[in-house]
Amino acid sequence: MRVIKQISKLQLSLLNQKKIGKKVHFIPTMGALHDGHISLVKSAKAKKATRIVSIFINPDQFSPNEDFEKYPSTIKNDLKLLRKERVDIVFLPNKEEIKKYKIKYKIPNFSIENKLCGKTRPHFFPGVKKIVTKLFDIIEPDKSFFGEKDFQQYLVIKELCKKMKLKTVIVKCKTVRDQKGLALSSRNNYLNEKEKKMAQKINKSVKKFLPFFRENLKVGKGTLKLKQDLFKHGIDSIDYLKIFTEQLTIRKKLNDKCRLFIAVKIGNTRLIDNYKI
Ligand code: PAF
Repeated sequence: MRVIKQISKLQLSLLNQKKIGKKVHFIPTMGALHDGHISLVKSAKAKKATRIVSIFINPDQFSPNEDFEKYPSTIKNDLKLLRKERVDIVFLPNKEEIKKYKIKYKIPNFSIENKLCGKTRPHFFPGVKKIVTKLFDIIEPDKSFFGEKDFQQYLVIKELCKKMKLKTVIVKCKTVRDQKGLALSSRNNYLNEKEKKMAQKINKSVKKFLPFFRENLKVGKGTLKLKQDLFKHGIDSIDYLKIFTEQLTIRKKLNDKCRLFIAVKIGNTRLIDNYKI
């Protein structure tokens, strides 16, 4: 496994891989790796592919009052995990170099960015699009792997690729959960024991209501009851709890492909998740 920090070195190394007929499979991350990331790494495995993982805590996707300064960084352990998975290249961009890296085109905005997380975290999607576009431009991956837990992010990246005619195929990978059903997230590291127990209740609560959401188009009563159930378990606040189609539009028919999207705050920790209906 090669750990590369410089863009020119990375591009040279990738060029050599491409010359010998290898495809490039890319997993962008902000580190603090857990089994969710590792499942992306495993999904990206292919005989004729070079797997590259980037680790970069992207300041642009955090608002000034958010957790950029304390975002967990566990680089030594991350490298150990990636070595174990036999990843080919780990890209650790240098902050200054990646900041200076210019992309030649204007990044478009999409209406799906203004919903759900985009409402409460207006910095988030513009920041994600900026870094992901730079990374795609540098790496030119054939396939890129994103987790389903961040479903809205997956949609935004897919839209970005479509609008900018980027060649990488976006692969969506299943959410990995702990034994109690809590979706794995680097931010789970912030939770103390009591908070973790609360977070683990979300899954059970949501699952109790999924049959109701499956069978009813009018969901007001159900969402209210689910919110009450979550508050009862000690969840401090609910940022959103919405049912949308998988294109983030209003559900019109019972058999529309839909998901329940949820964002909650436990103490100072914001957690998101989504469930197929
Ligand atoms: O999902 C993440 O970890 C980040 O938003 C990403 C895609 C690596 C961009 O910084």
